[in-house]
Amino acid sequence: MIDINNKRLVTLEEYIIQSQNRFPGATGELSQLLRDIGLAAKIISREVNKAGITNILGLDGSKNIHGESVKKLDLFADEQLISALDRSLITCMVISEENDGVVKLSSKGGKYIVYLDPLDGSSNIDVNVSIGSIFSVYMREARYNPELREEDAFQPGIKQVAAGYVLYGSSTILTYTTGLGVSVFTLDPSIGEFILCERGIEIPEHGAIYSINEGSYNSWDLGLKKYIKYCQEEDPETGRPYSARYIGSMVADIHRTLIKGGIFIYPHSKKYPNGKLRLMYECNPLSFIIEQAGGMATDGETRIMELKPDAIHQQTPIYIGSKKNVETVMQYLEEYA
Ligand code: AHG
Ligand code: MN
Ligand code: MN
Ligand code: MN
Repeated sequence: MIDINNKRLVTLEEYIIQSQNRFPGATGELSQLLRDIGLAAKIISREVNKAGITNILGLDGSKNIHGESVKKLDLFADEQLISALDRSLITCMVISEENDGVVKLSSKGGKYIVYLDPLDGSSNIDVNVSIGSIFSVYMREARYNPELREEDAFQPGIKQVAAGYVLYGSSTILTYTTGLGVSVFTLDPSIGEFILCERGIEIPEHGAIYSINEGSYNSWDLGLKKYIKYCQEEDPETGRPYSARYIGSMVADIHRTLIKGGIFIYPHSKKYPNGKLRLMYECNPLSFIIEQAGGMATDGETRIMELKPDAIHQQTPIYIGSKKNVETVMQYLEEYA
């Protein structure tokens, strides 16, 4: 622990070791992986915070598998995270938004598979609005098989051993879970350490905020249109009309939902018939966090973390947040199906 102004602070490294000591059989490898991500996050945070000065803003000129124009910072974050994971030799492969296929790392025998959204909310980079990085960790099951196969990565979200995000906002925070609750750390740039600021976070059971891109209203299902109208009706007992908040960076919208409650929705639409957000490196990790805090996440019918993936970049609609809010929207979707 370090003392700052006589306040005993716990760093991410110390917290990870303390948590690991609670598992006698722990080998320390997952702890090392989380430290790898913490290191990459510090480097990305430094670049994000001076993006306007160095030549790191703007487009890289290429397009990714989703047809999105890739930003220089997308690629910088991708490189930093993958190289940090590669160095410790405990991750055998990475799947990231910015790489079409599986990235096989130096250690073929590494026990973990990591999914990454290296930079989430890229459309907000050039306008100085919060962006994030998202990670999701699985144990490689077929470790006897020397041949690394893409199929090893097709695991449902319930099999995640760890997940979390970094939010590069007014401060840089790292939030993660290993299935024992949700902890949040804030980066103190003066000492270059992530400092524990919250543990065992619980999402409010109900929240008076809804978060959705209303631009796609015309292509919503009737049940969703009726639910959003419900959110806008006057009813002081349930805190309605709710407030509408939409940042356009999923990490930022989900972090607000985790802290203040409410619901975030990205439905299927004409433009995105299967939804826009990616199951494996946006929806599953953020659903793990929200569920660990007592919330709920579905695709409108099925629990997100029980969806069986059959493609590394597959997309899904998502309704995620406070349990009562998600249950209500699902009633509307069912009633008007
Ligand atoms: P990414 O920048 O990683 O491609 O993700 C962007 C995602 C997500 O962060 C956000 O919730 C959503 O795109 C916003 O989409 P719209 O601009 O269509 O609302
Ligand atoms: Mn993108
Ligand atoms: Mn994203
Ligand atoms: Mn991204």
